[in-house]
Amino acid sequence: MLSDWEPPKSFSVFEHFQVKRIAGALGAEITGVDLSTDISDAVIEDLTGALNEHHVIFFRVQNLTPKSQAAFASRFGPLIAYPMVKGLGGTDAVVSVVKKPGERANFGGLWHADTTYLDEPPMGALLYAVELPPYGGDTLFANMHLAYETLSPSLQAYLETLTVIQNSAKAEVAKTREDRIKDDGGERIQFVAEHPAVITHPRTGRKALYVNSAHTERFKELTIEESEPILRFLFRHLTRPEFTCRFVWTPGALAFWDNYATQHNPINDYHGFRRVMHRVTIGGGRIA
Ligand code: SIN
Repeated sequence: MLSDWEPPKSFSVFEHFQVKRIAGALGAEITGVDLSTDISDAVIEDLTGALNEHHVIFFRVQNLTPKSQAAFASRFGPLIAYPMVKGLGGTDAVVSVVKKPGERANFGGLWHADTTYLDEPPMGALLYAVELPPYGGDTLFANMHLAYETLSPSLQAYLETLTVIQNSAKAEVAKTREDRIKDDGGERIQFVAEHPAVITHPRTGRKALYVNSAHTERFKELTIEESEPILRFLFRHLTRPEFTCRFVWTPGALAFWDNYATQHNPINDYHGFRRVMHRVTIGGGRIA
């Protein structure tokens, strides 16, 4: 499909590390930072700047324990538990995102922003590659600022008047958590929250589309029948290939995504193999 959107021509240069863009829409690899060390406030500030600009940042060949991953993540905000899944080693902060060789579903295996069914959805998450399949298991990311900015001004204005109802129990996403909830002896709990259909990013002030196919049920101001075709269009629009990037994992790689600016989709193309990731979630506040 032809797009009238053009990628920015240049990005910031940071003093403390190198940044290499991986796609036109979003995503950059950062080199020159060892995340297991005691990183200075100046570097954390610059990494926040890189995240604001690229929306998802990637690091290779890191050597992280759950404790050091949590320590790094906590420099960006308070850590929060992932609902319904137990934390590793008695801590709620780090959860294992696993697909076992005998399983068919992969955790969160569809386009989504994380836990948008909470009243205060997280600002971001850090996912660290512990064990990877011999091929496949890449993760796709999409830029929700571009998804909003490429809509017609009339549709943008209309969506800005709407509220979305986000529900944790939509059937398709619920299926992707079943194996983990069963393993943990956890419970299926239903969360429902209302948020604006278009949010303003709390750090950058840039607007972003805030509907996702995993959790968004309907618009509060419209009937289900009226909501359905608009959502169907938006779910297709927001994953246009030119709004996405694809991260090919390597052992010890870490992805840090901005959960207000992006959605992600882990590709389920490695049946018969194990994939183990450690995930930490950073809390946010109410979004407007
Ligand atoms: C998730 O949605 O947290 C999982 C992402 C992945 O496994 O790549």
